[in-house]
Amino acid sequence: MPLVNASRILQCADEGGWAVGAFNCNNMEIVQAIIRAAEEEHSPVIIQASQGAIKYAGLGFIAALVMQAVKETRVPVALHLDHGTSYEQVVCCIRAGFSSVMIDGSHLPLDENIALTRRVVETARPVDVSVEAELGRLGGVEDDISVEERDALFTDPDEAYRFVQETGVDALAVAIGTAHGLYKGTPKLDFPRLEQIRTRVKLPIVLHGSSGVPADAIREAVRLGVRKVNIDTDIRQGFVNAVRRVLDEKPDEIDPRKVLGPAREAAVEVIREKIRLFGSAGKASEI
Ligand code: G3H
Ligand code: ZN
Repeated sequence: MPLVNASRILQCADEGGWAVGAFNCNNMEIVQAIIRAAEEEHSPVIIQASQGAIKYAGLGFIAALVMQAVKETRVPVALHLDHGTSYEQVVCCIRAGFSSVMIDGSHLPLDENIALTRRVVETARPVDVSVEAELGRLGGVEDDISVEERDALFTDPDEAYRFVQETGVDALAVAIGTAHGLYKGTPKLDFPRLEQIRTRVKLPIVLHGSSGVPADAIREAVRLGVRKVNIDTDIRQGFVNAVRRVLDEKPDEIDPRKVLGPAREAAVEVIREKIRLFGSAGKASEI
């Protein structure tokens, strides 16, 4: 099955009141784990590449891995650029076959974020590639991007309205209290703000930094209009914990397949659980 535009999945999720998981991949095992979990749950899925993943594996390798994976699957899959840093990077990803991109101008003044995002939409839409943008700033660390708590900024609903009107984006990532990476305490989401944003913009909302967010909070966010839930840290944690377990049990193991195979299985379980939580299990045939 060819890659699908993420917007198609998001529209369907919006009609049905569920969310799709957007899972970060860093290597072959994680790409395979995402696909296997989606197949086992009959769920559509978004596979996304962060800046760190692109640096580690290379854009061409990630695209080729995902293209190979989708050849062999029947569930709808979108390949998405996560936290795209520039117009030029977006163009590289579109040329490499990505079906969806994020342009993250959240660190820019509003007018500049709007101008950059609109330019990306004008390029991506004619070639059937969906565009996500971000307004507000998440705290925490993701790969090389680190935002101090004091610099984090919640999304303003009025600005969100103007942003969506002037850019024409397909999905909007918002800052409502989540953060990238591991949480020190329990995150507290600003649901009234989410409700206000969603009332104003009527667009699929994206929740970043969703690893470690309690299940009830995720359910409430989905009820209020979150349609794409980004998960990276929980997969990394499940994967690396399994590697540790194997090496603790067999310190002399030297076969990478015997170390990474169980890690891949652990990642499948993490992703399956998320898919069920987001409500996308069984929805593959609706896309
Ligand atoms: O863009 C990716 C995510 O927002 C992942 O966040 O590592 O906290 O799951 P996470
Ligand atoms: Zn993110």
